[in-house]
Amino acid sequence: MSQAAAVAGSGGGGARPRVFSGIQPSGEAHLGNYLGAIRRWVELAGDYECFFCIVDEHAITQRYEPDELPGRVTDLAVSLVAAGLDPETCTLFVQSHVPEHTELTWLFNTVTPIGDLQRMTQFKEKSLGQATVNAGLLNYPVLQAADILLYRAGLVPVGEDQRQHLELTRGVARRWNARFGDYFPEPEALIGDGGGGAGRRVLGLDGVSKMSKTSDNTIPLLAEESEIGRRVASAVTDPARVRRNDPGNPHVCNVFSLHGFFTDADERDEIEVRCQTATIGCMQCKKALTRGIADGLAPLRERAAELRANPGAVAEILAAGAERARQVAGETMHEVRRRMGLGPGAGRPA
Ligand code: TRP
Repeated sequence: MSQAAAVAGSGGGGARPRVFSGIQPSGEAHLGNYLGAIRRWVELAGDYECFFCIVDEHAITQRYEPDELPGRVTDLAVSLVAAGLDPETCTLFVQSHVPEHTELTWLFNTVTPIGDLQRMTQFKEKSLGQATVNAGLLNYPVLQAADILLYRAGLVPVGEDQRQHLELTRGVARRWNARFGDYFPEPEALIGDGGGGAGRRVLGLDGVSKMSKTSDNTIPLLAEESEIGRRVASAVTDPARVRRNDPGNPHVCNVFSLHGFFTDADERDEIEVRCQTATIGCMQCKKALTRGIADGLAPLRERAAELRANPGAVAEILAAGAERARQVAGETMHEVRRRMGLGPGAGRPA
């Protein structure tokens, strides 16, 4: 049994352990999202009862354009389905379509110490240098706890940077359970490498920071080959390799590390040796990578084109996802309200 299965919490009560994860609606997904998270989600959907959520209510804690948000949500949903998340085998939905997320957030706020929130690294980073810090930024992790615990998920696949938020979620579950009776599992972060490098930190084209839209160092997941080529051409390689005749060090070169995901082992070994012996230049190496990425992601581009040609298809998937999510969320909230003495049913026998 996998590590994941062994640590799965008892939450949910369904036959398969429950998994929950969330992703910010930053528009079309990029290679870093895919290699670091989405690929992993697709695998998990085969083994667990998975809830995957586009977290638009988290996104609004930072400046945004209301007119653009729905498009960002849809573009991300297209990317996720094109990447292989099958609405038949997992529940894919948008956070704001399930109002129970915000309701549970409020209730959880009452068992969460402010000090714990002020200590969060991400809060400190995001509030740095801002004239006013909105309370949503501080309470961001409480919404995240509500996301996860609303489905009583036992496992949460996330990147290393979310470990602290998961710890906070466990604290919320513990405090709530201590006050209102044992109900929520303490979910485990699922950070492992998942095989093939999934979950590994994927560096951006600058070769120094994590691939992210804000750093503008990404390759869009659904880009055409010409665009992939342009982006790859701009990537930083071994800085010590200045001239074509200088031998390179593939192990400090992010272009070479990207080959690890897209180029078969024989060709990769050859590139490694030829870089070290200066018998291949960076341009040629980048061309090979461009082809590898373009070929590897071709099926995703095709699926995305089909989805886009059928307006309403994505909206239907998300509506069905929200309906399923609300069933589970509704059951949880019923029990939570009852135990907390809230709502018209409170005070009556269970
Ligand atoms: N905060 C997460 C991130 O920035 C996104 C997220 C929101 C999430 N809710 C979640 C991740 C619940 C896992 C579980 O990546």
